[in-house]
Formats: sequence, C-alpha cells, structure tokens
Amino acid sequence: MERWCPLVLIVLFSVIWRVHRISGETNCPCSNPSLCEPIKDTNRKEVFVFSLSKDIQTWQKYNWTKISTVVMVGYYSDDMMCLAHSNGARVVFIGGVPTEYLTNATLQEEWVVKNLAIVTQKHLDGINFDYESPIPADRTDLRDGYTALVRRTYKMFKQYNPSYQVTVDVAWSPACIDQRCYDYKTLATVTDFLFVMSYDEQSQIKGPCIALANSGFYKTQSGLQKYFAAGISSDKMVLGVPWYGYYYPCVDVTEDNTCAIKHVPFRGVNCSDAAGREINYDFIMHILKNSTTGRLWETSTLTPYFNYKENGTTYQIRYDDPVSLKFKFDMALRYNLRGVGIWNADALDYSHDTPEVVHQRAQMWQAFPDYKKSEPTINSDFI
Ligand SMILES: *[C@@H]1O[C@H](CO)[C@@H](O)[C@H](O)[C@H]1NC(C)=O
Ligand SMILES: *[C@@H]1O[C@H](CO)[C@@H](O)[C@H](O)[C@H]1NC(C)=O
Ligand SMILES: *[C@@H]1O[C@H](CO)[C@@H](O)[C@H](O)[C@H]1NC(C)=O
Ligand SMILES: *[C@@H]1O[C@H](CO)[C@@H](O)[C@H](O)[C@H]1NC(C)=O
Ligand SMILES: *[C@@H]1O[C@H](CO)[C@@H](O)[C@H](O)[C@H]1NC(C)=O
Repeated sequence: MERWCPLVLIVLFSVIWRVHRISGETNCPCSNPSLCEPIKDTNRKEVFVFSLSKDIQTWQKYNWTKISTVVMVGYYSDDMMCLAHSNGARVVFIGGVPTEYLTNATLQEEWVVKNLAIVTQKHLDGINFDYESPIPADRTDLRDGYTALVRRTYKMFKQYNPSYQVTVDVAWSPACIDQRCYDYKTLATVTDFLFVMSYDEQSQIKGPCIALANSGFYKTQSGLQKYFAAGISSDKMVLGVPWYGYYYPCVDVTEDNTCAIKHVPFRGVNCSDAAGREINYDFIMHILKNSTTGRLWETSTLTPYFNYKENGTTYQIRYDDPVSLKFKFDMALRYNLRGVGIWNADALDYSHDTPEVVHQRAQMWQAFPDYKKSEPTINSDFI
C-alpha cells in the first residue's frame, strides 16, 4: 500500500470535504446536544456488546454500568445513540464489505467515505468490521486487500476524529479457522483492537461427530495463546463470548450423554455445528426446566449442557451461563486483555419482569468485570 502514501493528504482533504457535503446539517436529536459528542476516552477497558434489537424497551434493561461500547447490528437509532452516550458508552455500527471491494482501491475509497459519512451524520463513535468470508491461504490478494481496507478506514477515521473507534471481529483462533486466513497481526496494528469471537468453536469438527461445547474454556485459551504467539498484544484483544448456545438433535445418545450428530459439512470438514441450531439464553433457560438430565457440567470445557426430549428425539443443548462465562472473563482479566464482549445483548428475556427473569438478566450482566465502575456518566433524560 506504499503507493497510497503520497496521496494520503489529498485524499483526506477530499474525504473531509465530501463527508461534510454528504452529512450537511448535523442537528443533534438528543435532549442535551452534548450527548452527540463522541466518547473521548480511547484507552479504557471494554465491555463490547452487540445489539440486534430495535426496541428501546429492551435497551433500557441493559446494565449500562457495565457497557463501554454497543454495536448496532442491522439498524441505526438516534435513541440508541443518545442512550449510549448518556451512559458514557460508545455506539458504533457494523460494516459489511462485499468481497469484490477487497481488490479494488476505488471501491474501497468510496466505501470508507460513505461509512465515515454515516458515522459523522449519525453522531456515532466508529465502526466494527464483521467480514467472515473464507480467504484461502493462497489468496494473498484478498488477504492484503482486506487489511488495506481496514487500514484505509482506520487512517481516515482517526484523521477525521482521533476518538473514533475501528475494530475487527476475528475467529476464535488465527489458525485459518473456517478458511479465514486473514493477516491478523497487521489487522491488530490498524485497529483499536480485535474482537475475538470465542464461540462457534465447533464449526469444523475433526474428531468424532458429536455435540461439543460452543465456547470451551481451554479451546478459547488455546486460541488466545495463538494470537499472542502471532505477536498480538493483550491490549489489542477483546474476548468475545456467547449469550447463545447450540441445540443439537442427537442421532444417538450414550449412557454417559455423548450425543452423536448428523454429518453436516462446513468449509472442507465433514462434521460441524451446522447440525444444530443456535438458540438464545432465554430459550435455553426455558427448556432447561423440562430437561431429562438437569444442568450437567463438563469439566473438560468448563461449560454446562443438558439433554432435552421432544417428540421422541433427544436434543443436547450446549451453552454458557454466568458460571462458565465467569471462568472466561477471569481469563481475560488474568491475561490483562483489552476487555470482554458478547454476541449478543438481546439473547435474554427482556419482555417479562417476573422475579425469576429479572434475576436471570441481572446474573448475566453481573458476570461481566466492573471495568467502568469508577467512570462518570452524564445522567440526563435522553429523549
Ligand atoms: C473497480 O470498481 C470500479 C467501480 O465498479 C470499476 O469501474 C473499476 O473498473 C474497478 N477496477 C478494477 C481494477 O477492477
Ligand atoms: C467426508 O465425507 C466424504 C463422503 O462421505 C468422504 O468421501 C470423505 O473421505 C470424508 N472426509 C473426511 C475428511 O472425513
Ligand atoms: C414442559 O413440560 C410440561 C409438561 O409436559 C409442558 O406442559 C410444558 O409446556 C413444557 N415446557 C416446555 C418449555 O417445553
Ligand atoms: C413436536 O411435535 C409438535 C406437534 O406435531 C410440533 O408442533 C413441534 O414443533 C415438534 N417439536 C419439535 C422439536 O420438532
Ligand atoms: C449493574 O451493574 C452494577 C455494577 O456491577 C451493579 O452494581 C448493579 O446492581 C447492576 N444492576 C442491575 C440491575 O443488575
């Protein structure tokens, strides 16, 4: 990307001009105009949460004392922006990238300009990349193209406003998981940090085709160690854990609760978690009540699971709860990572407020570390 260096200034000025032109008037929709200012602390520890719900009633039940950044997935909302900022949290949005953009500098520049305009116009704090398509090891053009796009984004965003945050979601391990042979080391240098998706760890099951943990403690740890070995420092990694699990129909169950699953191939491997389906924590807690085994604990992964029977089929549910999450959060603290995060904040039951449900939500939120505790927040009526 050397060839772009002499152009950086020219490009930047033209970007700023275009962004201003695209954004036009930037009226603040919050009750207090200061709530439209981006969050300025760029070094703090993270509790980085993805939000899919478009419902303000749901967001109001998040524990904002914990959250440092919320990623809007599939929507933009002024209400969310005002709410997040009033709680001292960043609000960013997820950036989708078509693969053909990775090898076309013109398309990349347009992409960055367009997305920077969205961020400034909507008073957001940055962008999160969630590109997850395969890049085989021999496609160095795509690998370097992706890195170039992220670098370009980082440069332009930071030049425009140094408080803006640019992050990239990466697989649980850098070892070409799901054929994602990205340049992780360089990606870490052209972002604020990587969000390590320490889940879907059974997307490529190479041993016996059986139900296994979605986010096993030791597998998660080995992934992080490979990132360290690749030269990525702890302050460049946020440990992402699941608030969802997998619901596997068993083709056979043994006495010791080993659940054999159907062979469903994924990216070159014959057996995968695609044999099951993803279910949210609220649904898991709902069916746990009718489980045939009760909550079981797997010491080899430090995660819970249980069996459930419906219409004659046995299902095995592999998931995380506050106990297993706490083990992983403690690991993040021990490694002094940049922080932790979840996919996704809306996986709990926010539509009921029975003591049981309120307790369930409180326990999930309280499992997070208390990084933000001492930081001041603006307490104001945000709408
Ligand atoms: C890049 O994309 C633009 C816009 O679609 C197109 O005009 C141009 O030919 C492409 N360049 C290359 C090198 O493919
Ligand atoms: C995957 O399944 C196919 C068809 O059943 C078989 O030919 C192939 O050897 C299997 N590959 C592996 C790696 O097990
Ligand atoms: C649990 O089982 C009871 C009794 O069979 C049934 O009425 C109830 O609907 C079941 N609940 C769930 C969540 O499946
Ligand atoms: C069980 O059977 C009922 C009635 O046919 C159906 O509505 C339900 O979806 C079935 N459950 C599962 C898990 O397949
Ligand atoms: C939110 O988190 C804070 C900090 O851990 C805690 O003191 C508070 O009780 C939590 N609120 C709820 C509703 O659980």
